Amino acid sequence: MRELSAEQKNKITSLLEQMTIEEKIGQLNQISPSIVGGFDVSFEELIEMMTDGRISKEEFGRIMAGARQDYHDDVNRAGGLSSVLSSDPEVCNQLQKIAVEETRLGIPLIFGFDVIHGFRTVVPIALAEAGTFEPELMEKSARIAAKESRASGISWHFSPMVDISRDARWGRISEGPGEDPYLASVFARAKVRGQQGDDRDPSGYVASCLKHYVAYGACESGRDYNTVSMAKSMLHNAYLPPFKAAVEEGAATVMASFNDLNGVPCTMNEYTLRTVLREKYGFDGFVVSDANAIKECIIHGYAQDEADAAEKALNAGMDMDMGTWIYSHQLKKAVEEGRVPMERLDDAVRRILQVKMWLSLFDKPYVTEEEIHRYDVLPQEHLDHALEAAEKSIVLLKNEKGLLPLKKDQKISLIGALAAEKEEVLGSWAMSGRASDCVTIQQGLMNAGADFSYYPCCTPESEIDEKETDAAIAAGDILVAVVGEYASMSGEASSRADIILPGKQRELLEKLVASGKPVVALLMNGRPLALPWESEHIPAIVECWHLGIQMGNAVARVLFGEVNPGGKLTCTFPSASGQCPMYYNAPKTGRPGSRSKFTSRYLDVPSAPLYPFGFGLSYTTFEYGDLAVEQTADTLAVSVTLKNTGDVAGSEVVQLYMHDVAASLVRPAKELKGFRKVTLEPGESRKVTVALPKEQMGFYDDDMEYHLEDGAFILYMGGNSRDCLSETVTVKF
Ligand code: NOJ
Repeated sequence: MRELSAEQKNKITSLLEQMTIEEKIGQLNQISPSIVGGFDVSFEELIEMMTDGRISKEEFGRIMAGARQDYHDDVNRAGGLSSVLSSDPEVCNQLQKIAVEETRLGIPLIFGFDVIHGFRTVVPIALAEAGTFEPELMEKSARIAAKESRASGISWHFSPMVDISRDARWGRISEGPGEDPYLASVFARAKVRGQQGDDRDPSGYVASCLKHYVAYGACESGRDYNTVSMAKSMLHNAYLPPFKAAVEEGAATVMASFNDLNGVPCTMNEYTLRTVLREKYGFDGFVVSDANAIKECIIHGYAQDEADAAEKALNAGMDMDMGTWIYSHQLKKAVEEGRVPMERLDDAVRRILQVKMWLSLFDKPYVTEEEIHRYDVLPQEHLDHALEAAEKSIVLLKNEKGLLPLKKDQKISLIGALAAEKEEVLGSWAMSGRASDCVTIQQGLMNAGADFSYYPCCTPESEIDEKETDAAIAAGDILVAVVGEYASMSGEASSRADIILPGKQRELLEKLVASGKPVVALLMNGRPLALPWESEHIPAIVECWHLGIQMGNAVARVLFGEVNPGGKLTCTFPSASGQCPMYYNAPKTGRPGSRSKFTSRYLDVPSAPLYPFGFGLSYTTFEYGDLAVEQTADTLAVSVTLKNTGDVAGSEVVQLYMHDVAASLVRPAKELKGFRKVTLEPGESRKVTVALPKEQMGFYDDDMEYHLEDGAFILYMGGNSRDCLSETVTVKF
């Protein structure tokens, strides 16, 4: 966040001086519209009815569309609202008019929305996009989303989601950049730059909201909202780095997570909100709770009642209440009784007003008609970017005997309902995406002029249509099956205990393979899947994730070799669900898993993952040689000679890993410390160097002390976290 001018700061001080306690508390109140009328059961019951199948999603949608939304105009008029969750520009303008023109002090509202991987130009889910290893691309996606949403009145994105996640059962792994703190920090910085960087022109930037603070991705057994217990050293070394990086980049806001951390809900956790975020990182923006979270602390059993919840949350450093109205109802009494100091209330209000001021909401509270319609037709630049991001996120997992790329004159049977369901390309959290913008894989093959026939055969939830499958097998020279998860199978509240292909899709694949015809599996999913049978029996497997609006075109271009895939995995693919949590950078045990009995292993599944972090093939091959390390006083320059040994040009992500051989705390077996993405022509060789600043070779202990310990380090370089060259060096700090 750019420093405010003296005039802006004075205005905030003067507002604070004029505000009544009610108006101050109003600035801490964020609401979603209340849904009123139209149905005879409560809203919660209605959601339950949809979840357990008593009503269909469509019926739910119809009921909701008929329901009236109450935006609490009277409360707004009295200065009791600060922020609203909304994406409708007309609604934003109406509510803003009340706030600016009818309240006593005319403080504008701030409209927030879940813009996670694109607003209208929906790009790949974060788990996929981080696998491009291209920060400029990640930044541009965020910049485009900022412009599009700002034109709709939204100036606050509830993103980037930078939860490290090492358990693929957790559905929300799809929303973040994966399991590695270094890559996640690169991603976090890029997103904040994209969202907030262009902050001179109000139409070009929004406030970031780092979430979910913190360790939400470590929820026990991958079950959403579950408890988290973790050593503070692990918290600081693995889960906090992307938050720290993004705060350094100037992120304006942070959202606390639902989980408790070592017994204290993150919503009212003084250690994380005050000691770490404000005191250690110097965060000067504001913190918002997650939806309903202040109230849920009563259910956690951490707050006695609403009065206690309000007091504990504000005192811990929770500035804004998302959706419970508890601050509105409880804080006045808490301040009057001295349970919450007025200074803390003032501090929260000041932080919120500063963000509103920096966003230029005081000068430009409304969106104009021109802005509202600015992106009615998506600019070519946005479409091109969505295509590039999608192409570069695709990961080639297996390609036996050069089955891919396909040739245009091969007769293809395209199989699987996911290939043609428009909105499925969007992935989780893409509410502002439009079906009319989505290019399915079926459409992509059509656009590419492929010779193919299409057979849905089976959805992730249905039985197999045997007749259709027989017809598909008979018709094609090559069988291209699109299998995976519906978008709703990952994201919030979408944990899965068994992360195999859902439904009958594996049986479908078995049938295709049994035909003897070559089979290509295109995976469309929001998390790593456990696919041991598939990876053994299917000759070509492409991880396509949920790639956003240009998915179909991107997949077709990769299938036919117009684009050579270069994406890498941002998370380990286990070979069995029971291996979860599984991640490459786990602390080393005294008995690393091997084939020997008394080692850290399972009797019934392998110790190794199916595909390691950083993995991804290409239509060409790369050879690594000449690993060398040059040491200066403050840096290690680690280099390899990389050669493209195949027939086509291709990109490779050269990854630098490190292991601290003996330290005062057990360290990960490997940690990513840097990377470089390079493109080489066939036969071309290049020396690739990655610099490792020595100050980044340390780690935190449980007291937040950073250690740089002299001794031996193993440096690894390679195209994934498993297959690397290595060299041991001695380092003095
Ligand atoms: C709950 C989710 O956990 C969070 O990510 C989201 O931003 C809020 N709801 C608002 O929709």
